[in-house]
This record gives sequence, structure tokens and C-alpha cells, in this order.
Amino acid sequence: VRVAALIPAAGSGTRLGLGPKAFVEVAGRSLLGRSAAALAPHVDEVLVALPAGLELPADVTARTVTGGDTRQTSVLALLRATDAEVVLVHDAARPFLPGAVVRAVIAAAREIGAATAALPVADTLVRAGPGGDWGTLTPRERLWAVQTPQGFRRDVLLAAHEAALTDGFAATDDAGLIARTGGAVRLVPGDARLFKVTTPGDLALAQALAPVWDA
Ligand code: CTP
Ligand code: MG
Repeated sequence: VRVAALIPAAGSGTRLGLGPKAFVEVAGRSLLGRSAAALAPHVDEVLVALPAGLELPADVTARTVTGGDTRQTSVLALLRATDAEVVLVHDAARPFLPGAVVRAVIAAAREIGAATAALPVADTLVRAGPGGDWGTLTPRERLWAVQTPQGFRRDVLLAAHEAALTDGFAATDDAGLIARTGGAVRLVPGDARLFKVTTPGDLALAQALAPVWDA
């Protein structure tokens, strides 16, 4: 089957504060370049959603579309631009992507229809009260933190996106759209190094990890 990697990279990087985040470099390579290079050996094509008016950084070769105002609309634009049978959606902002995770997500997506990398939560979890102090302890048993890549049969994900659009439902990831309509999503063990570069602290971690990763 044909597999396409879809990379939403159209965000503005507000929390990081260094301009469009996919273009930010870590040890000489853009976040988008690192993500695309990790995916390319496993797929038939790479598609990237870019901010309006921007072109790919020099270290990336891919087909491009213009992204939307939200991650969800950027992914929908990517989905509409491919006819691959299986799609792998991966945040540009997760530059350290092990090949074993890519292979496992593709395999599970082909088997189940939808799958995501995820990690069991290790911290104690509490929902804060209205005043911001300790509210309700949430047992972490069977709680997973969801990462990307997420893999889907394209028709399954496109139907979920179109239903969400009709209902005005917003989610921060794609597997959540499948789950909302009762579809099965397989959790595939991800990797601590797959953290999303969101804040300046995350960028510092990425800068520390890059020389080890690149070695
Ligand atoms: N993304 C996108 N289109 C948008 C918003 C986000 O393609 N309109 C992408 C980002 O480029 C990123 C991924 O979705 O690769 C995850 O989003 P996030 O970490 O929130 O990135 P930003 O939206 O850029 O950051 P922020 O929310 O801090 O502005
Ligand atoms: Mg965002």
C-alpha cells in the first residue's frame, strides 16, 4: 500500500517565541528537516503544511500545502492533498523520531485502521481546584500521554475530520477525532525523546539531545 507522511508545520510557535517553529534550528538542522528526514525512509511521499507565504527550509524536500488557522485544519488540507491508502501524521515540532516507532505505528494502522505513539504517564496527576491549588487526584493507572506519529487508513481519518468540521468539534490531535466517533485506536509505545518542542525549556532539552542523537 502507498503510505504518505503528513507533517503539520504551519504553526506560529507562540509559546516558543522564535517565529514559525518548524523553521527553528537545533544543532544546524530545522525541526521540520529533522522530522521529515526521520519519516522519509519509511513512506512513499512526504507532504508538509506550511504557514501562508513561507517556503520549505533548505534542508527539506517535500510536496507542500498551505496550512490553516489550527493544527486540525492544517491536517485536513494535507489529507485532501494525497490519495495514499495509509497516512502518518507527525508534528514538525517532534524532531527526534526513532525508526522503530514509525514502523510500529504504520503496522498497527494497517491492522486496526488507527494508531498512535503514546507513553504511560509517570508523574502523579492532579486536577487543580478553581483557585489553582490541589483539587482532585487522578489515578495514573492506564493513563498514557499521546504523542505523534499517528497512523490511519486515509479514508478513516478523512471521514473523522469531515464529521468534526460539520460538528464544530476541535481536538489537539487526530486520534482523538477517531475515538470521538467510536473508532478503535491502538496505543503503540512511543519514546521519551519524541517530546514536542513547545516551550524554551523544551528547546534547551532538544539542543542537549541533538549531539547524542546525531552521533
Ligand atoms: N500546526 C499547524 N497549523 C496550525 C497550528 C499548528 O500545522 N495552524 C502544527 C505546528 O507547526 C506543529 C504541530 O502542529 O508542528 C503542533 O502544534 P504546536 O506545538 O501547538 O505548534 P504551534 O501552534 O506552532 O505553537 P504554539 O501553539 O505555541 O503557537
Ligand atoms: Mg499550537
